Amino acid sequence: MCGIFGYAGKRKDAAKVVLKGLKTLEYRGYDSWGIAAVPAESSKTQISNPKNQKTIFIKKQIGKIGSANVDDFPQSSLAFGHTRWATHGGVTAVNAHPHLDCTGNLALIHNGIIENYEEKRKALKKLKHRFVSDTDTEVAIHLIEEYATNQLSSKAMQKAFNELTGLNAFILLSSPEKKLVIARNGSPLVVGYGDGENFIASDPAAILPYTRQVHFLQDNEMAIVSDKGIMVFDAVTGDLVEVEKQHLDYTPEQVVLGKYPHYMLKEIHEQPAILSSIAAIDTTPAKKIADIIKTSRGTYMVGCGTASYACLAGSYLFSMIAKRHVNWALGSEFSYQLDFLTDTSLVIALSQSGETMDTLVAVHKAKEKNARVFALVNVEGSQLYRESDDTLVIGAGPEIAVASTKAFTGKLAHLLLLSYAMAGDVSDGQKILLRAIKSSKKILSPPTGSKIQKLGSSLKDAEHIFIIGRGLSYPASLEIALKIKEISYIHAEGIAAGELKHGPLAMVEKGTPCIVIAPNDNTIDAVLAGAMEMKARGGYIIGFSNKHHEVFDTFIPIPDSAEASIIPTVIAGQLLAYEIAVAKGLDPDKPRNLAKSVTVK
Ligand code: M6R
Repeated sequence: MCGIFGYAGKRKDAAKVVLKGLKTLEYRGYDSWGIAAVPAESSKTQISNPKNQKTIFIKKQIGKIGSANVDDFPQSSLAFGHTRWATHGGVTAVNAHPHLDCTGNLALIHNGIIENYEEKRKALKKLKHRFVSDTDTEVAIHLIEEYATNQLSSKAMQKAFNELTGLNAFILLSSPEKKLVIARNGSPLVVGYGDGENFIASDPAAILPYTRQVHFLQDNEMAIVSDKGIMVFDAVTGDLVEVEKQHLDYTPEQVVLGKYPHYMLKEIHEQPAILSSIAAIDTTPAKKIADIIKTSRGTYMVGCGTASYACLAGSYLFSMIAKRHVNWALGSEFSYQLDFLTDTSLVIALSQSGETMDTLVAVHKAKEKNARVFALVNVEGSQLYRESDDTLVIGAGPEIAVASTKAFTGKLAHLLLLSYAMAGDVSDGQKILLRAIKSSKKILSPPTGSKIQKLGSSLKDAEHIFIIGRGLSYPASLEIALKIKEISYIHAEGIAAGELKHGPLAMVEKGTPCIVIAPNDNTIDAVLAGAMEMKARGGYIIGFSNKHHEVFDTFIPIPDSAEASIIPTVIAGQLLAYEIAVAKGLDPDKPRNLAKSVTVK
């Protein structure tokens, strides 16, 4: 969840490089930040050494980086920084990372939660280590300090790392040894190989401007990163690990805003092009996966948040098109539902990041039962990607905005093709996907795009928004509601239209905005009946449909694309959520209380 960026190399403005890296990682969500740098030899005399800035220069602040700068930093070729998402200890500058040891020669940043920190803290206090923060992280730096008195910092870090429990990523900066030492268990870390300079980040997007040669650290791997190179080794045995570098397919342009005011809008608009490339890819892998699903004795999809709604949509698609029952579960609930798994079962894990802890835990449990795991994942090299038996990369490119958009429709496109591959006519799937792309383009341009913008402004003061749908439009309603909730903070609820009378109808009163998803399919009559019921209670009916119906007070046209209509429907909902947030003056890219990757349970 927190952002990490580290630099060791030939430049003399390491703190600036780190600040830029942290800015790229802002989307992950944070409430404070900090940077530490080791002054270059030549600049040491210029520093007015305040307390604790003897060998490591540190700046820590609460709030967003905004227009902050590091102009007061000395020249440096070794620096690292962190954007903190508070867990242990409140949001204060003291609790922000990096944390120093008692000597001021070692600094540490950390992602994750140290489970046994209390017991370690007590022991370290007895040894006279001075604690200044309320964080669990500070325990780790003092433990490393304790072990570093008579050995290299990498050895000390290894010993400490193996004693600390929990899912963590650590980066240690050693000023005397002029290097960074990193260790990972659970929390993502990637190293980048440059020319005379090397990088560390919690997300490869931050490294892209410098290099595309990377290695994603595996669990229980450590690395020493300096200007001379990167040495990876096993954190348990200490043995060197021979690394096969991975080449990132992403381009630096994919992670800059360009002409758009927000990443979310950029990513919404990227969808037609992404879907076109999915429609055009070689279908051999989809056919192979289709065969695996056919021969498994029970297939279960798992995912969290938006990915879980893709799972639900997948269960409808597999049923309607492939005539197969494919179950689904929330990643966080799957642990309580998997007693039926056997070595003939298949678990399909859906994830944008490939680092979502609840999804990974579900996969680990499935593996304990010897089930086969297939991942539909956006980040190649992520933990989910590496741990799965079979993978399909979604191909949506880097998704920066916290609200997932293009990864969702990318997942839907693959699930559609998989269902058609199972039915034996994948080309039919490609054809309707092309129709969905055409329809999506229409939604994103005037007049529909402008209509959605106007509607967004008119809904900015709403207290509740209800979205109803049946069949495939039900997961669409849930996903649209999630988008509205997470970026505009308006209470929104996706409802299976048939459930209205079983409770939610009580909430509808004069003027309540009700979005009715009414595509050209077998749900139309029943869903329109639901719209009537809402209208009769004063609801303001917004129709998302291929044609106007008289019950609609406002009509957003969604050109029909058979089972793929869910794609343009959701795109219209994403755009509406975006417009509401902007009309409310909110930053849709960085919603409060949320982080992009949820790497803790
Ligand atoms: O990276 P993942 O797809 O595994 O993430 C799953 C959810 O955390 C994610 O979809 C979340 O719900 C988004 N904020 C939704 O926009």
